[in-house]
Amino acid sequence: MTTTAPPTQGGSRYDRLIEPTRVHGSLYTDPEIFAEELERIWYRTWVYVGHVSEVARPNDYVRKSIGPQDVIMTRDRDGEVHLLLNRCAHRANLVCDDARGNSSSFRCPYHGWTYRNTGELLGYPYNKGYGGKNKLELGMGRVPRVAVHQGFVFGSMAADGPTLAEHLGAAAGELDRLARLSPEGEVELTAGWLKHRTRANWKLLAENETDGYHPQFVHGSIFSVTGSPIGALYSDQSTAVTRDLGGGHSENDLRPEFRKFGEPMRWFGTTEARVPDYVAAMREKHGPAAEEILIEGAPHVMIFPNLFVAEIQVFVIQPLSANECVQHSTAVQLKGAPELNRRMVSQCVGSVGPAGMLLADDTEMYERNQRGVTMRRPEWVDVRRGLDRERTDERGFRIGTATDETGIRGFWSHYRQLMEADK
Ligand code: FES
Ligand SMILES: [Fe+2]
Repeated sequence: MTTTAPPTQGGSRYDRLIEPTRVHGSLYTDPEIFAEELERIWYRTWVYVGHVSEVARPNDYVRKSIGPQDVIMTRDRDGEVHLLLNRCAHRANLVCDDARGNSSSFRCPYHGWTYRNTGELLGYPYNKGYGGKNKLELGMGRVPRVAVHQGFVFGSMAADGPTLAEHLGAAAGELDRLARLSPEGEVELTAGWLKHRTRANWKLLAENETDGYHPQFVHGSIFSVTGSPIGALYSDQSTAVTRDLGGGHSENDLRPEFRKFGEPMRWFGTTEARVPDYVAAMREKHGPAAEEILIEGAPHVMIFPNLFVAEIQVFVIQPLSANECVQHSTAVQLKGAPELNRRMVSQCVGSVGPAGMLLADDTEMYERNQRGVTMRRPEWVDVRRGLDRERTDERGFRIGTATDETGIRGFWSHYRQLMEADK
């Protein structure tokens, strides 16, 4: 079911659907808009695909996605990472079935064509049918551009366009901040992935990731059961800020709250006495600079369009249709931090696992929202919260208070630009 778009009154389509303080319900429901998003966002801009630690050894591979497209991330024998579309060049069967593995080649099950893990066609049975030629000019489709930041592998289906560094802008620094928490300076996403199929438009998830207005209400139960101090970070009194990082990226910068207390590991809900080996390893690596890193903790950042780092978890949003998506989630693992890694896995199970208390609450909201936006009145979603009290910070970014919708407005402003580009 779709909400009807407002009548044409001049101006382009997305300028009419996206206003500074409200966005139209049809953006979440219209299959035509979804099809256009695939072309203008998912198959054009940089999309997060996987992490190099998931293909650590030569010839490792793992199945990933770019929106509804099935992608195989491989590492060839020389160590280079490739993103291949999981499609046979013969008659389009899926080439790879396994979720992950180690192999230098793939064999299509339909007629037995084989490919190197770089996508190159190696051979096919009964080549007399091809005039005896043993090398057709065919191969698996490749994602034209692949680039990596801090081990995070991004792909762009467009051969040309902004570089990954241009796309990430200030958000790159947030991934750097995450990596700095490892005593060896490296993130590893090797804890395995949970996948939750969700009956909601992908943008409801992207908007929610830095929505500091909802935690006190949606997550009140987990905060009270666990005695968590997280709720206070998102109260009206919190000194944390919501920042529009540009490029559709946004963050809840919780550092002002953690600096107030000045206690190492408070960001992780614990004290240094509980993770002594980790804290010692960080002090050894960073010297006096370790204190600031241990106090400020990990970022809470949404990287447009599909990568969300929530301190100790990473989420990836995969859209399937206007009203369905998959949320992939995993625990952050930091190289050289086994003590912390174990805790991050168990916290992750408790928050986003099948019986976890955090993601289930958010998902309930996403699906309720999706039902809401199909209703015909009022047609608009209101995103004005905090507009009047927004400021510009010392780096030139728009910031609001912990509960303001500054990040959501930043998302929509970038979305509109992409959807209107070259029209
Ligand atoms: S479709 Fe793959 S070998 Fe025929
Ligand atoms: Fe939430």
